[in-house]
Amino acid sequence: MSREHVNHAEIVSFAQDRVNLPKEKADEFRAQVNRLRERLETYLSEHPDFTLKKMLLAGSLAKGTALRSLNDIDVACYISGADAPNEVSALLEFLAERLRKAFPNFSADQVKPQTYSVTVSFRGTGLDVDVVPILYDGDPAWFGNLVSQDDGSFLKTNIPLHLEFIRKRKRAQPDHFSQVVRLVKFWAARMKAADDNFRFKSFMIELILSKLADQGLSFSDYPEALQHFFTYLARTDLREKIYFTDNYPASSVGTFSQRVQIIDPVNAVNNVSRLYTDANASAIYEAAIDAGDAIDAALSAPTKQETVRYWQKVFGSAFQA
Ligand SMILES: Nc1ncnc2c1ncn2[C@@H]1O[C@H](COP(=O)(O)OP(=O)(O)OP(=O)(O)O)[C@@H](O)[C@H]1O
Ligand SMILES: [Mg+2]
Repeated sequence: MSREHVNHAEIVSFAQDRVNLPKEKADEFRAQVNRLRERLETYLSEHPDFTLKKMLLAGSLAKGTALRSLNDIDVACYISGADAPNEVSALLEFLAERLRKAFPNFSADQVKPQTYSVTVSFRGTGLDVDVVPILYDGDPAWFGNLVSQDDGSFLKTNIPLHLEFIRKRKRAQPDHFSQVVRLVKFWAARMKAADDNFRFKSFMIELILSKLADQGLSFSDYPEALQHFFTYLARTDLREKIYFTDNYPASSVGTFSQRVQIIDPVNAVNNVSRLYTDANASAIYEAAIDAGDAIDAALSAPTKQETVRYWQKVFGSAFQA
C-alpha cells in the first residue's frame, strides 16, 4: 500500500475538523438534557404517581457517536403503561400534555407532538430535544416498548443496555471504535444526500462495526478499518445474519424472512433492519463497492492530487489533505 499522500493521520485530522461533533458542543447539549431530566425528577419527587417515570439521553449523543451535523437530541421518556393510550398519535398528545405539566416554564408551543416523537424547543441557542416515548410497565432492567422512529410501531427493547453494549466496544478499542463509526456515518450521510432513496440507519452501522470488532478486527488504522467495513458489505451482500450473545444465547435468536437481518443485541426477536428491502440492501452493496474501490485506488495512487480525488469519492469535497 502506498500511503505517502493520505494516511491514517490525515483521516484523523479530517475527522476532527469536519466529521466529529466537537466535545464542547456535545457537553453543552448533554447539559441541556440534564436540566430537563432533573426538572422531571423534581416534579416526580413531588408527584410520585406521575406517569412520566424517567428521561434518558439516547441516540448518538449518549453513545459518543454524534456527527457535527447533529440536528436534534434524542431523549427517551418512560411512560407508565397503565393509563397511557396505546395508539401512537394519542400517546404523543398524552406525552406532550404531561411534559407541559412537568415543565410549566415552557410555553405550550415549545412542546409539540410530531409524527413519532414530541419535540421540546428551547428559546435561543441549543438544539431541539426529540422526546421518544417508551411504554413501560415497571421492569427493573428498563425494558419497554419504544416507539420506532421509522414507522411508529412498538419495539420491545432496552436503551440502557444498548448504551452499555456500545460502551463495551468503545472500551475494547478506545477512540477508534467511535471514530470509525462516525466516519462510516459521515459516508452514509453523503450517500443519503445524493439519493433520497438511500438509507442506512446509524444503529445498523454501529452493529455491523461491533460484529467486525468482536471478530478481532483492529480499528486503529482508519483507512484499513474503513476498507474492512466496505469489503464486509461487498462480500456478504448484506445476507449474513448478525447477532450478539451479550444479552441472550444464540439459540434464542429468531428466524427471520427479511433480506437484511441485524438483530437487536438486547432482544433476539427484534430485527433492527426489518424495514430494509432488497432495493435498499442493493443500494448499500453498490455504494460499498464504490467506496471500497475508491479507497483501494487512493491507497495506490501515484500523486497527492489523485489520492485526494479518490478519498473525495468516499467523503466528498469536504475532504482535503
Ligand atoms: N429498530 C430498533 N430497535 C431497537 N432499538 C432501536 C431501533 N432503532 C433505533 N433504536 C434505538 O435508538 C437509538 C438511536 O438510533 P439511530 O440509528 O436512530 O440513531 P443515532 O444513533 O442517534 O444516530 P444519528 O441520529 O446520528 O443518525 C439506538 O442507539 C437504539 O438504542
Ligand atoms: Mg439520533
